[in-house]
Amino acid sequence: MRRYLSKLIHGPVGFNPSNSFPLNCEMGSYCAARRTNRQASFSGNNEYATRAFATTSCASLSEDQPKDNPVSDMLVDSFGRLHTYLRISLTERCNLRCQYCMPADGVELTPSPQLLTKTEILRCANLFVSSGVNKIRLTGGEPTIRKDIEDICLELSNLKGLKTLSMTTNGIALARKLPKLKECGLNSVNISLDTLVPAKFEFMTRRKGHEKVMDAINASIDLGFNPVKVNCVVMRGFNDDEICDFVELTREKPIDIRFIEFMPFDGNVWNVKKLVPYSEMLDKVMKRFTSLKRVQDHPTDTAKNFTIDGHEGRVSFITSMTEHFCAGCNRLRLLADGNFKVCLFGPSEISLRDPLRRGAEDDELKEIIGAAVKRKKASHAGMFDIAKTANRPMIHIGG
Ligand SMILES: C[S@@+](CC[C@H](N)C(=O)[O-])C[C@H]1O[C@@H](n2cnc3c(N)ncnc32)[C@H](O)[C@@H]1O
Ligand code: SF4
Repeated sequence: MRRYLSKLIHGPVGFNPSNSFPLNCEMGSYCAARRTNRQASFSGNNEYATRAFATTSCASLSEDQPKDNPVSDMLVDSFGRLHTYLRISLTERCNLRCQYCMPADGVELTPSPQLLTKTEILRCANLFVSSGVNKIRLTGGEPTIRKDIEDICLELSNLKGLKTLSMTTNGIALARKLPKLKECGLNSVNISLDTLVPAKFEFMTRRKGHEKVMDAINASIDLGFNPVKVNCVVMRGFNDDEICDFVELTREKPIDIRFIEFMPFDGNVWNVKKLVPYSEMLDKVMKRFTSLKRVQDHPTDTAKNFTIDGHEGRVSFITSMTEHFCAGCNRLRLLADGNFKVCLFGPSEISLRDPLRRGAEDDELKEIIGAAVKRKKASHAGMFDIAKTANRPMIHIGG
């Protein structure tokens, strides 16, 4: 089985690179940029994709200023994007070893004294939330393995102005921890699952645990999380034959299945041949689920969202590679070592930990953050350039 799967994942496939394209958005006009990208990725005879395209919304450049928690200048970049969403990586460690996320021989771990403590995380989070951030996502590594995860959730959920406290998790330890995490204010979960076949799970994650993840999804539903988002990284020859099986999960359960295009990061052996473009995934789903309908996006949505008549859940696509969504990006990232990152794919980082530890006042920290936000580029460099640029492995960044 292992040899068979290895052949599937590493073997030659028939991907036509002309279906993809370098992404060099000019950013003059958000709508124009999105239109160009759509036309590019839908060139080819993709009638289903064209139907979906017709229902796509044309969103405005940035989020409207929220009235209850106004966004300070620190969080506005030079393109007018309001950054109201902070992703905090709580750890570089993980109880799985997913092939698309980290190299086989593991990653170099930052020594513990150099990682942010709970107090430092909360100090930073407070600074962001009091400046207008209204959503925090906890990620990692695997956030549930952090021992003080419940305390962190409780204290974050008490920050005035924070509306959503979310977590992206591999689900291995979630079923057991979720009731308490919910009590501590966690109000949304994304659970990662790339296959419905236990043997393939073990191959991809280099660990056992498929049943635990399925249990976590069911436990989340039972506890009333709605929707329960399931993140599935689609890789050609590995799980692209399971796309419709995943969509079936949405029939009777409030699951939002989110198909993610495979992205290049250091050490994850990304290869364009393994990328299954959005247009192709969409085609597959529409052929089987003919009532698939695009729903109106929010300008800051990274996902393209769809409903199917009679299905309780939804289907979404995260198209970072073939149709990037940089124009509406409202995300910032704080890594476990205290580095601050304004773009998932951009290599530039700046330490908040160092000034914090030498006693910087809030105003100095805000100045550092504001300057980094102002340096944020209009869009990422395009998948081929990203693949060539040094960045950290995904497990360090947290998605
Ligand atoms: C880095 S993980 C961290 C949180 C948690 N350990 C988990 O797996 O959900 C966050 C998300 O990034 C996704 N991810 C990791 N590597 C990726 C890649 N190369 N391309 C696309 N998504 C990736 C994972 O599937 C997961 O949904
Ligand atoms: S994707 Fe998540 S579960 Fe998989 S190795 Fe990366 S951090 Fe761990």
